[in-house]
Amino acid sequence: VLLSPQESSIISRQEVDLSSGRENLKLSLPIISSPMDTVTETGMASTMNLFGGLGVIHRYNSIEEQIEMCSVGGWRRAAAIGASGDFIERSQALYNAGIRIFCLDVAHGHHVLIKEAIGELKNFFTDITIVAGNVATLDAFNDLSDWGADAVRVGIGGGSICSTRIQTGHGIPTLQSVLDCSASDRNAMLIADGGIKNSGDIVKAIAAGADFVMLGSLLAGTDESPGSVFESSNGKKYKVYRGMASVEAQVDWRGEARSLEGISTTIPYKGSVKPILDALRQNIKSGLSYSGARSISEFQSKAKFILQTTAGQLESNTHILNVK
Ligand code: IMP
Repeated sequence: VLLSPQESSIISRQEVDLSSGRENLKLSLPIISSPMDTVTETGMASTMNLFGGLGVIHRYNSIEEQIEMCSVGGWRRAAAIGASGDFIERSQALYNAGIRIFCLDVAHGHHVLIKEAIGELKNFFTDITIVAGNVATLDAFNDLSDWGADAVRVGIGGGSICSTRIQTGHGIPTLQSVLDCSASDRNAMLIADGGIKNSGDIVKAIAAGADFVMLGSLLAGTDESPGSVFESSNGKKYKVYRGMASVEAQVDWRGEARSLEGISTTIPYKGSVKPILDALRQNIKSGLSYSGARSISEFQSKAKFILQTTAGQLESNTHILNVK
């Protein structure tokens, strides 16, 4: 799909306001970095905050390590937790450390364990924001919202390092899930998660009804993402980016691999994430202005999708005539 350009009176991108969300989760840049061990620890989370977004510190660590990653103050902190195992102890410790945004981070979020976990969190703490997921259907979105989630991560099987659809045959193209879930009459905010490759995809996700997008690969491979830079024999620099259900991540985390629904790969080293976030911000603003919209809500009411053909898709990628 593409978005149809519309008449605009916007003179400068400065007129476009990207703030999104409500009350307990309002961001001036609608981007959240993924709770993955090659994406978000202290460096990424604090930089996301600096740009008006949010970083969710991953949970593939000991409680002490996670608290340590959240202990550097001055930024809005969110943490990821699981829905079983040490999650009560972990959430208690995080709460005591001042964390008020909790991300219940489960591959198949439309699950009784998530229902119970949200219930328990709500019992313990009255002043927290709960992000939960992942889900792919309207029924699931409504249920998580009814169970008490303030925001729901939408997208199953679409991540760049994800092999869920190959391994299990399950999933829904992320844009379709976002379109379906955005029809909800419930209150939860919608986070489009997985498969976002560029700012155009972010603009489309927001047009489809997402309040925020969650990014993994777009932010990985940077100075602010965890892990070291290494040089290959051809002199090029890389960093590791891996799915949290990859063999490598699971073995590092718990010593064995149980389910394999992700891969581990390398991506070119990109330097600091700051120019990337700057460019994303500018391009998303441009995106809104092509629809003549000065705010996300105006954009969502105006945006018009069109279906493109395969020929259109080829034309949409940069291409030059190669005359031989
Ligand atoms: P990306 O932005 O396309 O790289 O996708 C990132 C998203 O992939 C994350 O926010 C998760 O929702 C999802 N994800 C992370 N690890 C795995 C995995 O091992 N298998 C499947 N999905 C994953």
